[in-house]
Amino acid sequence: MNNQNNGYIIEMRGIVKIFPGVKALRNVDFLLKPGEIRGLVGKNGAGKSTLVNILTGIYPKDGGLIFFNNEEIDAMTSTIARQLGITCVHQHSQLIAPLSIAENVFCGDMPVNKLGIIDWRKVNQLAETHLRELGLNIDVTRKVEGLSVAESQILEIAKAMFANAKVIVLDEATAPLPKNEVEMLFDFVRKQRDTGVAFIYISHYLEEVFELCDTVTILRDGEKIGDYDIKELDQPELIRLISGAAVERFKHTGRNLDGKVVLEVSGLSRAGEYSNLNLTLKKGEIIGLTGLEGCGKDTFARGLFGLEHLGTGSVKIEGKNFKAKDPRDALDQGVAYLPRDRHGYGIFGLRPIYENISLPILRELINKVGLINHPKENQLVNQMVGKLNIKASSVNQQVQFLSGGNQQKTVFAKLVSIKPKVLLLDEPTQGVDVQAKVEIMRIIDQLAQEGAAVVVISEEIHELLDMCDRILVMYQGKIIKEFLTHDKNTSVENILRAVEGSN
Ligand SMILES: Nc1ncnc2c1ncn2[C@@H]1O[C@H](COP(=O)(O)OP(=O)(O)OP(=O)(O)O)[C@@H](O)[C@H]1O
Ligand SMILES: [Mg+2]
Repeated sequence: MNNQNNGYIIEMRGIVKIFPGVKALRNVDFLLKPGEIRGLVGKNGAGKSTLVNILTGIYPKDGGLIFFNNEEIDAMTSTIARQLGITCVHQHSQLIAPLSIAENVFCGDMPVNKLGIIDWRKVNQLAETHLRELGLNIDVTRKVEGLSVAESQILEIAKAMFANAKVIVLDEATAPLPKNEVEMLFDFVRKQRDTGVAFIYISHYLEEVFELCDTVTILRDGEKIGDYDIKELDQPELIRLISGAAVERFKHTGRNLDGKVVLEVSGLSRAGEYSNLNLTLKKGEIIGLTGLEGCGKDTFARGLFGLEHLGTGSVKIEGKNFKAKDPRDALDQGVAYLPRDRHGYGIFGLRPIYENISLPILRELINKVGLINHPKENQLVNQMVGKLNIKASSVNQQVQFLSGGNQQKTVFAKLVSIKPKVLLLDEPTQGVDVQAKVEIMRIIDQLAQEGAAVVVISEEIHELLDMCDRILVMYQGKIIKEFLTHDKNTSVENILRAVEGSN
């Protein structure tokens, strides 16, 4: 049957993968043609990463067949995958920061002269020619550390293509990308597609899937739901296929904002980061803080949480002067923070889910004789797991084995259990599926109702409009505009204009 070329560069048939306690893939077929951009979508834990990990030889399959250009590859390994030209670009750049662009392109395999010494002129020349052929005019002697996120990912793709990649997987590669850089990456991907490279594009940003992909494959709980031409679908239909049901949008209906002021920031400045920030936040209020990458919104939050220098000016919490020397100190004074990068310190990957959730409140769970009140701990953990719909084989599972989005939910559960006065959330819905986004928005709303004052730092304007009472826009270190979400003149377009710095 496969002697004749059927036009597929990748043909995966009946793929099965079993992890202890979960059947991650059940008889999944996956097909890809050269010059195609195929979206791979599904809820957290649906099996997307597992499927591409099998394709790239990271995990062995437990059943099924893999063909590359009609030739069966019995035992795929990462070496074979690399030789065939199958590569994955991950969310977190694997480039080596202190090295130059040219050195990264070659990745250790550099041309040498007769004496066996690296021929730098040749290294730079070849790298430059290669990148120019791909439409990139960059100084290849520049160090990688100065590149923006999009530039790094473009370079990762360019590097893969230098090594002759034919199939490139982008597994949530755009999650950490500032919105204004996504277009740059997409243009580059389209250009390479037009030369015959095939892409597998995994994302929870469905607008991007519609914008970039030619076709889409949907997985749900380890099973394939179907393959579609992107033109056959619209967003509500795609959401329905992903979740198996319609997903109700969250929209807050107004909050009681008669509470007292919890956070009061006046004249806060930090050289090179932000200047003269003023804001007040009431008990039970949710504000959005948005702006382009580098506008100061995230350094402000990190400063409040004691992760960076906060600068000069005044910050008060419930009328008392506030300054945190480190995160522990911030937590003790009632300020909690959800980092954008959950791999930072947000999670203890080697520990089970239940410990990650109960750790911050262990003090409260200890009874008079100093023992952990396990029934209470269990009750609380199960409540959080249920509330956030964390998908795991059990609460004893190590967090590192959860799917990306379920790790994010676990970090979130951990924060919620702290019950802080001020909650700072940096891109709280990053990497979570459509349904979980709505669940997380509900939880944030509930936390506000229970009395927390919440700052959501995000570039997801639609979500901010649905969730917040006010949205503040930062531009080049200053808060330049405030929008009331219930004002009928407030629109995504108006906010985006402010984000770009115009009125
Ligand atoms: N190394 C592992 N050990 C045990 N279970 C695993 C491992 N890797 C993945 N799983 C489980 O397999 C299932 C599929 O996970 P996978 O990472 O493929 O999901 P995903 O679709 O990529 O989700 P997300 O959108 O959250 O990244 C999940 O239930 C996950 O917990
Ligand atoms: Mg994944």
